[in-house]
Amino acid sequence: MRAAAVACANVALSKYWGKRPGRFNVPAVPSLSVTLDGLSTTTCVAFDETLVADELWFDGVAAADEPTRRASELLDRVRDAASVSARARVDTHNDFPTASGLASSASGFAALALAALTAAGRDASREEVSRVARRSSASAARSVFGGFVELPGGLGPDATDEQADEACVARQVASAAALPLRMLVCVTTEGEKAVGSTSGMRETSERSPYYGAWLDVAPRLHAEMMSALERADLPVLGELAERSALAMHASALAAGVAYVSGVTLSLLGAVQALRRGGTGVWATMDAGPHLKAIVDAKDADAVASELGAMPGVLRVIHAKPGPVARVLPFDEAIAVARGGLS
Ligand code: DP6
Repeated sequence: MRAAAVACANVALSKYWGKRPGRFNVPAVPSLSVTLDGLSTTTCVAFDETLVADELWFDGVAAADEPTRRASELLDRVRDAASVSARARVDTHNDFPTASGLASSASGFAALALAALTAAGRDASREEVSRVARRSSASAARSVFGGFVELPGGLGPDATDEQADEACVARQVASAAALPLRMLVCVTTEGEKAVGSTSGMRETSERSPYYGAWLDVAPRLHAEMMSALERADLPVLGELAERSALAMHASALAAGVAYVSGVTLSLLGAVQALRRGGTGVWATMDAGPHLKAIVDAKDADAVASELGAMPGVLRVIHAKPGPVARVLPFDEAIAVARGGLS
């Protein structure tokens, strides 16, 4: 009744922002992401009949109520699927800042889904792991897979919630080796973000005059990006990824949801200036102030030193397309997850 798993973060090239109305946390628009090597979450789940409630620990320190509640919701889904009643202790470790727009919820819920289903004795397919993760956080559905991953958008209003849930399954669309892409994560704060993505997208859908425009453009950018990926055309893919991020942030900003900081905008200016100078580099940002530069592998070092020298950049993480989520030996993982503290 115990198991451990590791999953890597992912960054969306075409963004998921907004949900299909109804249940099961189905996105309103399709997204395409790249799973990132080296930004990973290691999670251990131990079901234990003696526990009265689920427990969540980060590096051996008890987590706050809200993350514990979200972990417990996922565990309820696993308990239902596997007919298990015991509560669980979850120990988890991120090797990058938690909840600051670095996609820790994606790797976190992917690792939790895989570890919990395995611990519950359920021989789950990757699709099932991904669906369990998606209902907690849609971007997590993509972190179950490696390389380049597509998560479809929701079906139209004629479909039932159950049909939309069934149809919304992430899949790998290209291997990690498909493109010589590197992602340079320019870390601009180690703190937690003020507005989480769930409430940020809710506020956008309720208040942004540009939400309709976003719903219109996002699937088109996504379709163009899918064919650029098929052709292994990094310049077109990069250009479209930057447009997707800017359209998402513009729609959010019009609702008063501002994730970008002054540093993010300076970095965006620097990326665009590098591009005018002939370097293949494009920007993307998620629900936080970090800028992620998409760059050809051959230019990664030069671009990283340029962006890393800008004021307000704390460090630059070099990431390349990464692997599928996988089960780990429990004893090895628990040492990592408890960080030697507990
Ligand atoms: C900007 O997956 O965190 O990173 O499903 O409400 O948990 P919930 O949202 P989440 O949103 C991710 C938003 C994004 C874009 C993306 O990853 O596609």
